[in-house]
Amino acid sequence: MTEHLQVVTHPLVQHKLTIMRDKRTPTAVFRQLLREISQLLAYEITRDLPVTTTTIETPLTEMEAPTLAGRKLALVSILRAGNGLLDGMLDLIPSARVGFVGLYRDEETLKPVEYYFKVPAELDRRVVIAVDPMLATGNSSVAAISRLKEAGATDIRFLCLLASPEGVQRMKEAHPDVPIVTAALDERLNGQGYIVPGLGDAGDRMFGTK
Ligand code: URA
Repeated sequence: MTEHLQVVTHPLVQHKLTIMRDKRTPTAVFRQLLREISQLLAYEITRDLPVTTTTIETPLTEMEAPTLAGRKLALVSILRAGNGLLDGMLDLIPSARVGFVGLYRDEETLKPVEYYFKVPAELDRRVVIAVDPMLATGNSSVAAISRLKEAGATDIRFLCLLASPEGVQRMKEAHPDVPIVTAALDERLNGQGYIVPGLGDAGDRMFGTK
C-alpha cells in the first residue's frame, strides 16, 4: 500500500457507521454492524495482496486461475476493543493466524504498559494487520506496533473504524511505514482523549459494559 491514510468512503460503510455513531443504537446492533464494516475494511486493506495463478479444472475445461500468493496473514487485535473487528475479518480471511496485544495506561506516567502479548510464529514472514476500532491519541496503537516490530514483523498495516487527526499524525511520526485504513477521519480529540464526534467508548458499546 502506498498511501499512509485511506478513508473508505463507500456508501455501505458510511451508512453502517452512522448507525453505530447514534447513541440510541443497542449493543447487539452495534456489534453486528462492526462485524459487517470490518469485512468491508478488510476487503480494502487486502486489496493489493499479491496473487499468482494455479491450474484447476472447472466442469468445462482446465484454466489458470488466480489465487493468493506469498506471505500468509496475521491479524493482531489490540485488546479489548480490537476483538470486535476480528470475527468479521476472519469471515473473509479464515486462514489468517490471530494474535493479541494487551496494553493499559499507567495512571501516573500515562504511558501504555503491556499485560498480554501472544502472536503467531514467523511474524517476519507474514502480512500483519493490527486492528483497533479507535485511533484516538495513538499511544496504544503506536506501542502495539512497536512490539510487533520487536517480534519481527516488517509488513504491518493498521485497520480502525475511526481515526482522529492527532492519532494519525502520531502514527505517521512513529511508524511512517504502516498504512492506515479507516472508515472516517473525525474532527478532533476532546480533553479526555475521546474522538469527536466519534461514537463513545467502542469497547463499552460493543460489549455493553456501561
Ligand atoms: N477509545 C474509544 O473507545 N473511544 C474514543 O473516542 C477514544 C478512544
